[in-house]
Amino acid sequence: MAPWGDARLFLCILCITCCCSVIVAQVPMDCCLRVLNKTIERHIVADYKQQIRGEGCDIAATVFVSRRGRTLCVPPNEEWVKDLMKHVDDLKEKCKKLKYKGRRCVGVKPQ
Ligand SMILES: *[C@@H]1O[C@H](CO)[C@@H](O)[C@H](O)[C@H]1NC(C)=O
Repeated sequence: MAPWGDARLFLCILCITCCCSVIVAQVPMDCCLRVLNKTIERHIVADYKQQIRGEGCDIAATVFVSRRGRTLCVPPNEEWVKDLMKHVDDLKEKCKKLKYKGRRCVGVKPQ
């Protein structure tokens, strides 16, 4: 038996765990690092959120979330982005009334 080997292994795992959580804390996983000004088909979008510059993220962005949970980073001030946000607001409103049932509410999460 090698008790010190076990202890060293344990310390090593502990260290790796600590280091990883520090790295994750510094760079939030869901930060957009760049945006793409490419229009998104409205039927694939289920949600959106705003990424504010300086609150843990380097750039400002609007983040659309697809029905499958994919995030799409776009510029926050484009007209088409504002239109799409309005569309998502409407969709959420409708789905709330429908109790999130039906095909068009797939992926739309209760607020
Ligand atoms: C972004 O895309 C829209 C729609 O295609 C276009 O009208 C607009 O000029 C673009 N903006 C930039 C900064 O390229």
